[in-house]
Amino acid sequence: MVNPEDGSQPTGSRFSQLRRAAPVILPSLLLCDFGHLADEIGRLEAAGVEALHLDVMDAHFVPNLTYGPLIAEATRKCTDLPIEAHLMISKPLDYVRQFRDAGCDHLTFHIEAVADPRPVFDAIHKVGGTAGLAFNPPTPVSAIEPFIDLCDSILVMSVMPGFGGQKFDSTALAKLRQLQDRPGHRPLLAIDGGIHESTIAEATAAGAELFAVGSAIFYPGSDYGRALTQLTQLAREGLAHEGSPH
Ligand code: DX5
Ligand code: ZN
Repeated sequence: MVNPEDGSQPTGSRFSQLRRAAPVILPSLLLCDFGHLADEIGRLEAAGVEALHLDVMDAHFVPNLTYGPLIAEATRKCTDLPIEAHLMISKPLDYVRQFRDAGCDHLTFHIEAVADPRPVFDAIHKVGGTAGLAFNPPTPVSAIEPFIDLCDSILVMSVMPGFGGQKFDSTALAKLRQLQDRPGHRPLLAIDGGIHESTIAEATAAGAELFAVGSAIFYPGSDYGRALTQLTQLAREGLAHEGSPH
């Protein structure tokens, strides 16, 4: 259905429906072969991927520079899968419309980037997207607490954002448990950074439902289907230990 006010499509709600399929692995395209983007996405779809994660970095909020709405649009042209844009940028409000127009369903921005996240939530929801709030390892849950009711997802960072292939920071686990135990509105709980075969089960056990994964999927000679099956299997095993205090 098209919003008569601004012509936007409320496709963002597709992202929230991922809860039904949890645990869900979202490949972070950061480390894919952008020279063959359509092939890469085709291989991921064939492997059964259910959503994609695009890491947008501005060389200001984080010390790395990646891509913007044009690559998001190119990605959208290759797939109908839900797309999350993880905005590691200093001025997310200024780019909400562009990333939505580029075909992103879910826009995740950082609490550390904004003085007040409320206008960003409003802008995302107004254009029919869903909104995620991310926070970095040094930032406590209390910093996002006042805004949780506005979140469709919360992205707990388990590395300092900027680069793929970093070591998992286990302080994320206590934050997930804290969020999981919180009464009231429950946004989707996501984790990003250092998720691989040895860390995914404990993240699920702590309450994570969505997992942004880069280097554990994209490496030379990787079989995406095998990597995804293994990670999903391990994530499900972690579910059996949900709530266990390790
Ligand atoms: C971190 C990004 C990630 C990250 C994932 O700056 O937000 O999505 O690149 O990569 P791995 O899984 O290699 O940590
Ligand atoms: Zn990310």
